[in-house]
Amino acid sequence: MVLEGKHILVGISGGIAAYKIPELIRTLKKQGAEVRVTATKSALQFVTELTLQTVSGARVYSDVFAAINEHSTEHISLPEWADMMLIAPATANVIGKMAAGIADDALTTTFCSCSARKPIVIAPAMNDKMWECPATQKAIEELKSWANVTVVEPAVGELACGTSGKGRMPEVEVLSEQVKAALTEKTMAGKRVLITAGPTVEKIDPVRYISNFSTGKMGYALARACLRRGAEVTLVSGPTQQKIEGYDGLRMVDVESAQQMYEAVQEAFAKVDMAILCAAVADYTPKEVADRKIKRQSESENLCLELKANPDIAAWLGKQKKAGQVLVGFALETDHEEANAQKKLQSKGLDWIVLNSLQDKGAGFGTDTNKVSLYSADGTKKDCPLGMKEAVSEWIVNQLTIAN
Ligand code: CTP
Repeated sequence: MVLEGKHILVGISGGIAAYKIPELIRTLKKQGAEVRVTATKSALQFVTELTLQTVSGARVYSDVFAAINEHSTEHISLPEWADMMLIAPATANVIGKMAAGIADDALTTTFCSCSARKPIVIAPAMNDKMWECPATQKAIEELKSWANVTVVEPAVGELACGTSGKGRMPEVEVLSEQVKAALTEKTMAGKRVLITAGPTVEKIDPVRYISNFSTGKMGYALARACLRRGAEVTLVSGPTQQKIEGYDGLRMVDVESAQQMYEAVQEAFAKVDMAILCAAVADYTPKEVADRKIKRQSESENLCLELKANPDIAAWLGKQKKAGQVLVGFALETDHEEANAQKKLQSKGLDWIVLNSLQDKGAGFGTDTNKVSLYSADGTKKDCPLGMKEAVSEWIVNQLTIAN
């Protein structure tokens, strides 16, 4: 688990989005983290101390003077304990105080003693008018200028007052992802990576298509692993249910067909240091796309669909590759796995190939887990045991960054 053994300090201030924080704490704990909470008095109007204590499994630090009476100084000891601090939701009031160095309650004193030493993630949430306030914007710019601080921009959408605008706290998954990013060493800072993900969809007529079972989970997990390490990622994706939010370094290019994926990759490749080709690209596409729905002729008559070959994107990249560019392919095989993977590695001009076998239980399309081996063009082989796709993608990216 990516957060195994990590100590996360969550600071909650008094906005309606505080009601989402118990869910966030559970999400972080499920991924192996230990969580402690500090909250303002206003936050405890929105979410109870008992709820926070129950989900975190620890006492909530909200009263500086109560703590002093017990001869403890939690505003110092909690930051010592923490690997990082997340302030969510961060209200306009608390943002202003944090930026100005005002420390007048449990949350702001804790932040103050944490802020020079630990990674910090701040998730502002407030009414759009308060977000636009020049004082709030100035404080946000100040906090953004601190090297260890990440500000997760509020989302646009429905606000508690019934109007719509910029000010919503991003969803729990987005915050949990930013916590992981804050805890990850920036080993890919300055690197540009192109990733293809998901299936391609080849149209037959306006209502039908040819595709495959790829869900895009592995490609998106690889994109997150690179983004957490500070890389700039261009993610060329076929249609999937996956999403990534909260990263400035992400450029999404949504495509449908193999031809569109090919064109997007052609446009992006010259500027990247590494391309990871995780997409399950359709090898063939209908020779003609009917502009009207193809009607059934009769019950006994078969339909013959003529297919033409799609471009092999990986092989094209293998020919274009310049010195210093690294090309990583994937092979999903049902038989003769290693021989097939080695053949693809050579014939497409790849530097690395990641092999997953459909014979391995828990590997392949649609599962949350995967089991892979990584082969290099110069003959090395490394095995990653069965794990969650997120952990497997961390392993792959670690191997690639060590080697390149
Ligand atoms: N690939 C690609 N463009 C294609 C087909 C495949 O870029 N038209 C890439 C995939 O993203 C993957 C690698 O090539 O990284 C191997 O894909 P795979 O479908 O296993 O290879 P194929 O050459 O299509 O072989 P097969 O006959 O096994 O389908």
